[in-house]
Amino acid sequence: MVHRGLLVLIAAVAGLLGTAVAASAAISLRHDAQRAGLRVGMAAEPRYLDDAGFAPLLARQANVVTFENAAKWAAVHPSRHRYDFRAADRLARWARDHGMTMRGHNLLWHLNNPAWLEALRPTRAEAIALLREHITTVVRHFRTRFPGLVRQWDVVNEGIGNDARRRQNVWQRWIGDDYIAIAFRATRAAAGPHVRLYYNDYVDEGIMRAAELTSPQPVAVAQPGAAGSLSCAAVPKCRAVQQLVRGLVRRHVPIDGVGFQAHMAGDDPSDYRALTAWVAGLGLRWAITEADYPIAAGAEPAARARQAAALGGAARACVRDRACDTFVVWGLTDRYTWWTGISGGLLPDALLFDADGHAKPALAAVHEELLRRR
Ligand code: XIL
Repeated sequence: MVHRGLLVLIAAVAGLLGTAVAASAAISLRHDAQRAGLRVGMAAEPRYLDDAGFAPLLARQANVVTFENAAKWAAVHPSRHRYDFRAADRLARWARDHGMTMRGHNLLWHLNNPAWLEALRPTRAEAIALLREHITTVVRHFRTRFPGLVRQWDVVNEGIGNDARRRQNVWQRWIGDDYIAIAFRATRAAAGPHVRLYYNDYVDEGIMRAAELTSPQPVAVAQPGAAGSLSCAAVPKCRAVQQLVRGLVRRHVPIDGVGFQAHMAGDDPSDYRALTAWVAGLGLRWAITEADYPIAAGAEPAARARQAAALGGAARACVRDRACDTFVVWGLTDRYTWWTGISGGLLPDALLFDADGHAKPALAAVHEELLRRR
């Protein structure tokens, strides 16, 4: 009898779990995002489309796709006088054929640059000409070949360092502070008036504390122990981003929005409502552009619950502010999260779906927030 009771109990629990899994498997973020007037999606690499399970899942969950790497300098500009859009075009064609839009990412960054670029020693004028040429070529390529597909561009990626000063990327060194305005103006000229131009960066305290452990650069963080509802002004890097963006607006540089990457870390996930509250006041939009929350392998329920709270919290911040209309996760399934690589395999669990494409609690958490958009 005891055994039989136990079996019944197990069957009942399995039944409940089965229902929960079935319910989350039925979730289509895309469907509900569409109803809420939001762009919701994921970053992806063109080659992931070869994975038979991947494309149908992405088509069901996303109405916007970001180029994870395929539009970066190293990918599209392999040598000084050659551009190569084959891989990027594959993802763009797929997104277009599935009725999606895309986020262009990115037109400049200090990483994923081709070696030839980093080895140059141009004059300031040559550097400006090169930056303009690249931006014009890349933006025009997508505009002509896929009209209306790329609706947003990350023009400048991570222009502020962890020390809250200008990051010393090649453009900062070759051109000086003005490179940001030059890049935005070149993008506007090439993209036309209707594409939205973003400054994109990370301001998450948790990530900066993690970076502090490995980075030779000084990291400016808020007081130890401060967490949770930190406002932007309390986080030195966030304050620097705010000052930079405010300066661009004041000088009428053509910027439309701020991308908050939202790579999150730490036990006490950042409060994106507090970090982003300043943007609407400048007449700009903002977006969550690269959300993820890496945890250790094994995924005990408490860690997955924290992950769900972090990702759901970022979604909530966006859903509740009319100035935000875009929420992008940095990947679809854990099979391809960039965290596996950068954590040396220690944190391979970061996204809304596990490596086999099964929904995690974070999917339900994000979905629940989407339904609240008014
Ligand atoms: C990452 C990609 O996910 C990796 O595949 C690549 O090796 C390095 O870049 N901030 C950004 C993204 O703006 O472009 C980065 O993407 C993740 C951090």
